[in-house]
Amino acid sequence: MIRPFRYETERYGEYSKPGEFVYDHPFQWGSKRTGPDLHRLGGKYPDSWHYHHMEDPTSMSPGSVMPAYAFMIENDLDTTTTAAKIRVMQRLGVPYPEGYDKIANAELIKQADAISQNLSKDGIKVKSEKEIIAMIAYLQRLGIDIKSSHQTSEK
Ligand code: HEM
Repeated sequence: MIRPFRYETERYGEYSKPGEFVYDHPFQWGSKRTGPDLHRLGGKYPDSWHYHHMEDPTSMSPGSVMPAYAFMIENDLDTTTTAAKIRVMQRLGVPYPEGYDKIANAELIKQADAISQNLSKDGIKVKSEKEIIAMIAYLQRLGIDIKSSHQTSEK
């Protein structure tokens, strides 16, 4: 959560608005950070940067104390629960269209394939089924909706 202070917006970008989290269940605001705020991370780095950073943070940020998440490159993403998760979100008020639970995994695969192909352009061969692909999809999505609308602290 980027707070509405100049030293935050200069570093991270536009401060976080409650409406940007309205469909998060649970929302993940907190009062402690270790490492930089990630709310405006989407689009900041190429997919390949995230791949290398999760595999070994020090390869992209020398001296980083962040732990490595290299196991995400090995592990397959569990998609057996996607449909049920969508239905839970619908029940909590997230406006997925009726029947979206039935096509969610097809959409997921399309998005994953695009990221996997993008990585291969940078010489990284990783199957679209892997957890790292979902992590990259998530990170590239963070905080980008507001970029196309009105901003208050950036010109
Ligand atoms: C799945 C969990 C995590 C993800 C997805 C993640 C992701 C990231 C990303 C994308 C950055 C770069 C931010 C930027 O340059 O704007 C970053 C930086 C950082 N993270 Fe994490 N992180 C995770 C867990 C952790 C944990 C558990 C720690 C602390 C022990 C940590 C500490 C740091 C630190 C100190 C940095 C700044 C140095 C660097 O760029 O590596 N992170 N993290």
